[in-house]
Amino acid sequence: MDFCDKVVVVTGASSGIGAATAKYFARESANVVLIGRNENALNEIAAECEKAKGIKPLIIKAELSNDDEVKNIVTKTIEVFGRIDVLVNNAGYGGKAGILDGIEPYDHIMKTNVRAVYLLTSLCTPHLVKTKGNIVNVSSVAAFRPIKDLHFLPYCISKAALDQFTRCLAVELAKYGIRVNSVNPGATRTNFVLAAGLSKEKAEELYKVRDKVMPLGKVAESEDIADMIVFLASNRARSITGAIHVIDNGENLV
Ligand SMILES: NC(=O)c1ccc[n+]([C@@H]2O[C@H](COP(=O)([O-])OP(=O)(O)OC[C@H]3O[C@@H](n4cnc5c(N)ncnc54)[C@H](OP(=O)(O)O)[C@@H]3O)[C@@H](O)[C@H]2O)c1
Repeated sequence: MDFCDKVVVVTGASSGIGAATAKYFARESANVVLIGRNENALNEIAAECEKAKGIKPLIIKAELSNDDEVKNIVTKTIEVFGRIDVLVNNAGYGGKAGILDGIEPYDHIMKTNVRAVYLLTSLCTPHLVKTKGNIVNVSSVAAFRPIKDLHFLPYCISKAALDQFTRCLAVELAKYGIRVNSVNPGATRTNFVLAAGLSKEKAEELYKVRDKVMPLGKVAESEDIADMIVFLASNRARSITGAIHVIDNGENLV
């Protein structure tokens, strides 16, 4: 899976799944564009990426709910590299919210998890047309079913929307030779639940319980998800488009 001279944009590259994905692409000799908000974390991940093959990643700090900052991602990437081969729409977040919490959590979550993905993808697509590139979206098993012990109504809706985005876009862009796929993780050990407002203790408790209920006896690690993302972005997945790939240690079976 050689990504030599390819330009790969990864959102949410400062943490968890996005960071593991960026490092994997760097090991495959890609020019990686790291998107996130936490500058210190981005710098650390960039240093790790550079260590792999000596290729310096481009860091672009961006708040994805801000349209101008999303536009700047594409402007800067083209300025520096002149092309985009792969877009990984990974950044996203969840939060405890139900119907009685009103519309605000819905607007907030949809802005990052869906609207920003739509905007960034629309701006990247003319460049992906030129390179016959591809897109990988990071969704969730929450797209198919409610999360049992957390009430994440807007998050679940956002991921269901993202899956339909993947399918519709795959059909729309197939004529340009662009593939669009989704990876849908189940519980994965990252900062996700902390960002969603859980304490460290609660997060550990949650993972312990999840470790037991998973048929494979464990939650996933970021690297497990990165493996699939990089595979889908590679030419080895040349006949795969519009497909939703669940990685959940068998949780959906129990
Ligand atoms: N972990 C799980 O159990 C799990 C399960 C299913 C799906 N997922 C999905 O996997 C993806 C990655 O999450 P993760 O588990 O790796 O969580 P994470 O460790 O919390 O990482 C989330 C990343 O998204 C970025 N991000 C979030 N909101 C942003 C915004 N408004 N603007 C810019 N960047 C933003 C964060 O940037 P900063 O840290 O720099 O702010 C961070 O890099 C998400 O789409 C999530 O929904 C996770």
